[in-house]
Amino acid sequence: MNSAQLIDGKAAAARVLQQVKVDVASMVADGIQPCLAVVLVGEDPASQVYVRNKILRAEECGIRSLEYKLADDIGEDELLELIRRLNADREVHGILLQLPLPAHIEETLALQAIDPGKDVDGFHSENVGGLSQGRTVLTPCTPSGCMQLLHDTVGDLSGKHAVVIGRSNIVGKPMAALLLQAHCSVTVLHSRSQNAAALSRQADIVIAAVGRPRMIDASWLKPGAVVIDVGINRITEGERSRLVGDVDFDSALPVVSAITPVPGGVGPMTIAFLMKNTLIAAQQQAKTHAKSEAPCPSIS
Ligand code: GUN
Repeated sequence: MNSAQLIDGKAAAARVLQQVKVDVASMVADGIQPCLAVVLVGEDPASQVYVRNKILRAEECGIRSLEYKLADDIGEDELLELIRRLNADREVHGILLQLPLPAHIEETLALQAIDPGKDVDGFHSENVGGLSQGRTVLTPCTPSGCMQLLHDTVGDLSGKHAVVIGRSNIVGKPMAALLLQAHCSVTVLHSRSQNAAALSRQADIVIAAVGRPRMIDASWLKPGAVVIDVGINRITEGERSRLVGDVDFDSALPVVSAITPVPGGVGPMTIAFLMKNTLIAAQQQAKTHAKSEAPCPSIS
């Protein structure tokens, strides 16, 4: 009998969002409404869906959202000018620049233009560096969501061997840093790794973030491993199109002790942690402004 646990990302995300909602309401009662600015350049259909979902979720939490839809051929300078304006606006607490950007805009330049304190994606080098040094900063949403699922499922991660498959800046690298911070032994596998499946078979925890449909099957997994599948790949089978992960779910299920489904696993956690980061950014900015505006101690 297969007794593997299905890790319910929808339920976990609902718990995170409920807490965010409570904390947002408390800020609003103090006269500050957290606000997220979402910037979308061009008309990529997947990005449009992601942005719509982010805005809907923000509204549900009581977070104000501002949406900026820019033409595909907008100049880099114009985009940078908008980012500068949002940086300077004290009523905007978080800025999300939806990726990918059109080829004529340099992604790094645009991401680096965002104020690190408003960088709710955690992509600015100041936040990336802070994460690698173990400082408390705004951390990328998908890896944060994966860590929450792991803590909920495994409890203490200390001493576990975690294998991260994929080395992207958005998921693989920050994931490895967070696992290290949680005292795991971390191996990162990528397209040039030798004996990848054999290395992965040593892991207590496997994070699949390669973007290749159903690449990771049972031969990559140790019996009893906990598997977090970050992949969201659309495939067509005959007439039908559906979403599958980077893990071959049917092959993995009899082997693992717990696994995230796709959809309904990591996906909902990414948006939940975007809301949480917006709240954290707003709380930190409120603190900074309160300090800078405090009257000077009087000299008697
Ligand atoms: N495009 C795909 N994933 C992401 C993400 O996490 N953040 C942003 N800004 N763009 C994305």
